[in-house]
Amino acid sequence: MKNMAPHILFLALLALATSQAIASDPSSLQDFCVADKMSQIFANGLVCKDPRLVTTDDFFFSGLDKPGNTSNKVGSSVTPVNVAQIPGLNFMGISLARVDFAPYGLNPPHIHPRGTEILTVLEGSLYVGFVTSNPENKLFAKVLSKGDVFVFPQGLIHFQFNYGTNNAVAIAALSSQNPGVITVGNAVFKSNPPISDDILAKAFQVDKKIIDLIQAQL
Ligand SMILES: *[C@@H]1O[C@H](CO)[C@@H](O)[C@H](O)[C@H]1NC(C)=O
Repeated sequence: MKNMAPHILFLALLALATSQAIASDPSSLQDFCVADKMSQIFANGLVCKDPRLVTTDDFFFSGLDKPGNTSNKVGSSVTPVNVAQIPGLNFMGISLARVDFAPYGLNPPHIHPRGTEILTVLEGSLYVGFVTSNPENKLFAKVLSKGDVFVFPQGLIHFQFNYGTNNAVAIAALSSQNPGVITVGNAVFKSNPPISDDILAKAFQVDKKIIDLIQAQL
């Protein structure tokens, strides 16, 4: 290996992701701590805005009835409703997302480092699953229909695939104001700067050309 720096970076990121996976959101010590988006202070969570300036709209979001745009390579779209959209979610340990799927659309394998997810299918049919940690790496997977609910434990790789020829829609609730998303393929093959070909070729036991091919596709 010519350059160890990306390797060390990879391990550091892995350690960070692991430490986040066992944490949960800190609870609020008052009725609310509405995020002050103007604050220049960096804190764990967001700084509270003056409670006298808090309004009803700090707890409000509109538009989750609107489908996301699924005209992309994977045929899915996530509309997040977390602390970035609702400042009142700061320190509430909860958030939402709407997920839209075109026919055969996929929400590719990903991780929420800070939240467990509970997903409800509103329309259509989804094949969903998650994989447990090493050494078992057991896949728990199932086809869901309208009205079905499934749980993806915090920090585990999971996916949702639209089984049907119609659009599908699901609502995901997550146990963090800011659960985060790590799309596995993008994080591994499309990091910035990239993890070296040497490392990825060795990790996946393939020729570097295969790595280049995957990188070009993503
Ligand atoms: C959906 O996204 C595609 C690809 O980015 C774009 O061409 C199209 O205009 C978008 N459609 C809508 C309704 O925004």
